[in-house]
Amino acid sequence: MTIQKVGSAADYQSSATVTKADDGNKSKKKSPDGGSGASSGAVLGAAAAGLAVGLAANLGRKAMVQGVSVAAGSWDQALATEHKMALKIMDALAATENKQKVKRSTLLMTLKHALMKHAVQEENVIYPALRDSGNTEAADHLNHDHGYVKQYLYELENLPKDSPKFLTTLADFRRDIEKHIREEEDDLYPKMKASLDAATNKKLTLMMNKEGFKVA
Ligand SMILES: [Fe+2]
Ligand SMILES: [Fe+2]
Repeated sequence: MTIQKVGSAADYQSSATVTKADDGNKSKKKSPDGGSGASSGAVLGAAAAGLAVGLAANLGRKAMVQGVSVAAGSWDQALATEHKMALKIMDALAATENKQKVKRSTLLMTLKHALMKHAVQEENVIYPALRDSGNTEAADHLNHDHGYVKQYLYELENLPKDSPKFLTTLADFRRDIEKHIREEEDDLYPKMKASLDAATNKKLTLMMNKEGFKVA
């Protein structure tokens, strides 16, 4: 949900406003010789200002999303928080009616973004650490599940949003992802965390947050 709010719409709007306001005379921009040095400079300056606002908005969004993980503490707690968030989005989707096509599309986009960040963190850091701790088969199995998470997202994306099949596909997806989450939270993650010393767990948390930050 946080991801969706982002405030970026407003920020991008203000970035557009900066460019427009400083742009001034449009005819200067269209002149065949590319306009005077001064006006080109103003346009470039405005574009740079717009870009800076855009970048700041993006960093703000990253900080917000990242804040969830950092506030949640260690790697396993952060992942559990994200699991809850994903299930909550799925519940909101399950509560939609066939006629709420826009709401379905928006929630599906939010779910895809949340699961993409989550998968990057697990696949780039946590599953390799699982293999390192002797659980290669389990890590490969979890990775295989992630392939089907993407398959479900693909199916939902391609279904007409008012199709009655949308909710039945979503229900299958939720059932499968819940099973995957339970394996991670109730079995594999606690075992791995207990088998590692505090410094290694801390390092995993830092590495995972870094990966998540890249795609938040
Ligand atoms: Fe997973
Ligand atoms: Fe997970």
